[in-house]
Amino acid sequence: MTRARMPKLYIKTFGCQMNEYDSGKMADVLREAEGYERTEDPDAADLILLNTCSIREKAQEKVFSELGRWTEWKAAAPGRLIGVGGCVASQEGEALAKRAGNVDVVFGPQTLHRLPKLLKQTRTTHQPAVDVTFPEIEKFDHLPAPRAEGPTAFVSIMEGCSKYCSYCIVPYTRGEEVSRPLVDVLAEVEQLADQDVREITLLGQNVNAYRGPTPDGEVVDLAFLIACIARIDTIGRIRFTTSHPAEFTDALIEAYATEPKLAGYLHLPVQSGSDRILGMMKRGYTAAQYVEKIDRLRAVQPGIALSTDFIVGFPGETDADFEQTMALIERCRFDAAFSFIYSARPGTPAARLRELPAEVTKARLERLQTRIRELGATFAQDLIGTTQRVLVERRSRRESKNHLAGRAACNRWVNFACPAEDAERLIGRFVDVEITEAAPNSLRGQLATAVA
Ligand code: SAH
Ligand code: SF4
Ligand code: F3S
Repeated sequence: MTRARMPKLYIKTFGCQMNEYDSGKMADVLREAEGYERTEDPDAADLILLNTCSIREKAQEKVFSELGRWTEWKAAAPGRLIGVGGCVASQEGEALAKRAGNVDVVFGPQTLHRLPKLLKQTRTTHQPAVDVTFPEIEKFDHLPAPRAEGPTAFVSIMEGCSKYCSYCIVPYTRGEEVSRPLVDVLAEVEQLADQDVREITLLGQNVNAYRGPTPDGEVVDLAFLIACIARIDTIGRIRFTTSHPAEFTDALIEAYATEPKLAGYLHLPVQSGSDRILGMMKRGYTAAQYVEKIDRLRAVQPGIALSTDFIVGFPGETDADFEQTMALIERCRFDAAFSFIYSARPGTPAARLRELPAEVTKARLERLQTRIRELGATFAQDLIGTTQRVLVERRSRRESKNHLAGRAACNRWVNFACPAEDAERLIGRFVDVEITEAAPNSLRGQLATAVA
């Protein structure tokens, strides 16, 4: 007897961790509804989903050139379908189906749970099926239980963003902030813990705006949620991303002081060191307020690894503004940073402002990135000789087969050798590793002790 061939799904993900999380959920929904199996080989697939990002111009244009490339794939076998989800889909809606020509389904970040229905619709009507509405938190009530893939997992705790920074498209593509109920988040974490997940990253565009309703009508914040998760024995490490400086509260600083499971790492996007530019960006804090929060955080956790985001060349940014950004870098001594040249997003208030010449912004970006690389190298060098707790995720990709790889609390990858007979057993566990070498993107060390 031959088993019926299950349909296959290929997902290509662009953009942030929210999109990565959503891609996993798309696969879960389609597996449950129609038995789709995920594949890494598009030629084996019956359905391709592009989970798109529109944070910068190139991200958006990439989607359209990508779609062009799938025309032949679609023509090569009858019944093949193409779906586009994520932020470009959310923004473009019907227009995307019209412009692309070969798209069958368009869905948004908040309607991915309706994929099975949309697929049925397009198979019947042979017309594109489009749904990019924002039915708030409904999607989470329609998702299958999470499936762990290894010892680390993301859990979305809130959707959307209500900050409306003047340059940013996210509030328009993802909708306003909505928090998931506390018990729902905890249930998802527990289901993952039952599948041997040891590290949870709480996800949202602005996780410290978390206001989770409880069954008795109260509302709890991110610090409370972290404390609840820390009580789950087998969860050994908690991270969160992304948080906004304006809402980085005392309760969170306190959590870094008192909660050993909270990883000694923080990604806190600053964008600029100039108050004038921060004002034009509508970020809601000054450089001094940002620095003050970092100082207080370092007072409770001196070794914390700090990363950030910068936008370089915001309209009107002068040399003096940029020098203030460079000065802030020296003051905060970031371990890492993502830096981007400003990109006007249609429909955002900043898009009306006059842009700076490309050669100015490029030169600034280069200077900023060079300095960040140096600081990152110094941070890594300083780790040599220290012992870091590492959650082992897998065998190392670069080294021989008895090398393992995992991440330290500071978020850097650590590679280390271990006896062949122990390798399998240590994957998914915390171990202590003494750091012996620091390369630009990863550390190397020696196994000290296996912890748990
Ligand atoms: N919610 C997070 C970040 C979300 S987007 C926060 O505000 O901190 C990730 C990063 O993309 C931002 O921090 C910013 O540095 C960058 N970004 C967003 N919009 C941009 C634009 N229009 N041009 C260039 N970079 C942008
Ligand atoms: Fe965009 Fe600002 Fe919201 Fe971050 S906080 S997602 S930059 S609007
Ligand atoms: Fe991109 Fe949307 Fe994330 S615009 S960065 S995929 S929220």
